[in-house]
Amino acid sequence: MTKIEAVIQTSRLDAVKAALHDVGVEGMTVIEVRGHGRQKGHTEFYRGREYTVDLLPKIKLEMVLADALVEKAVHAITEAARTGKIGDGKIFLSRVDDAIRIRNDERGDAAL
Ligand SMILES: Nc1ncnc2c1ncn2[C@@H]1O[C@H](COP(=O)(O)OP(=O)(O)OP(=O)(O)O)[C@@H](O)[C@H]1O
Ligand SMILES: [Mg+2]
Repeated sequence: MTKIEAVIQTSRLDAVKAALHDVGVEGMTVIEVRGHGRQKGHTEFYRGREYTVDLLPKIKLEMVLADALVEKAVHAITEAARTGKIGDGKIFLSRVDDAIRIRNDERGDAAL
């Protein structure tokens, strides 16, 4: 299993969610976050306006997937989230050892 953490522009959330549903992603967690990339302290566009700030609002999506689904999900996110401007965000992948569905104790892929 792999955990995908994707930080995206807030304006791309609906499109990214739809693209992920289309490739079969079921469970996910969406978090409102603030962050900066390598342009810290420089101007960046947010909702069509230019700002000079340290931390901009972003959306972080977290999902744990069976490995077979990971590349499809990464492609769905990049295609739906890309505007081509700085600040489009980033995707981080990490290994997950196990998962447990609390309702019935299912483990591993079956718990996703
Ligand atoms: N190395 C990182 N670790 C954790 N979060 C990061 C990292 N880089 C970026 N982020 C998160 O992603 C958001 C968007 O980053 P951003 O797309 O600006 O990255 P960048 O490296 O500056 O690329 P670009 O040059 O395309 O803007 C940041 O606001 C931050 O929340
Ligand atoms: Mg940046």
